[in-house]
Amino acid sequence: MRPAAILSDRMKDDFLKFLRNLRAVREYTREQVSQEALDEILEVGRWTSTGGNRQPHEVVVVRDSDVLGKFAQWGAKPAGPAAAALLIVTANETSAFDEGRVAERLALAAKACGLGSCIATLKNEGPDAAKQLLSIPSERRARTLVTIGHTDSAARRALPKAAQARKPMNEFAHWERY
Ligand SMILES: Cc1cc2nc3c(=O)[nH]c(=O)nc-3n(C[C@H](O)[C@H](O)[C@H](O)COP(=O)(O)O)c2cc1C
Repeated sequence: MRPAAILSDRMKDDFLKFLRNLRAVREYTREQVSQEALDEILEVGRWTSTGGNRQPHEVVVVRDSDVLGKFAQWGAKPAGPAAAALLIVTANETSAFDEGRVAERLALAAKACGLGSCIATLKNEGPDAAKQLLSIPSERRARTLVTIGHTDSAARRALPKAAQARKPMNEFAHWERY
């Protein structure tokens, strides 16, 4: 019998497709995200590994539409129409790699819950303003957030198609040497 960690061929194909197809979703319906989905997403974030297992980050879950609107004004535009934003609060600038990793995992977990998400960053005075508004200590870094909501499929279908979504493989991967 296969060990549990090994996927069947079908599951492997599905999982690779799932990973490959994670897209930034900025178009949301007005439907709220359930507590159950938020808990599941946060649990994936909590278990994301960090350098030296230092676990430098915490997440502030924001569902208040006034605050989401402020995030949008402060440069993280996808927060405006989102049902929730998960603001990642980290120890300092040196934990940016861990921050990126947890952001990606939160986005993947949202997709697994059938939700759309977008990683977005607060810009200019945004991080300081958000810290002040949400009582986050000033020495902490709070720049990246993951917006979450139910995907507005009709609005997404109406978007213009990107000419080429990604560079070709031969410009991405170099074998044995650059
Ligand atoms: C680190 C990072 C920061 C991002 N910041 C923003 C942002 O501030 N606003 C935004 O609308 N999208 C943001 N995005 C989404 C990217 O623009 C998007 O992932 C990229 O254009 C590729 O599109 P796709 O994810 O749909 O393939 C960010 C993505 C990443 C990974």
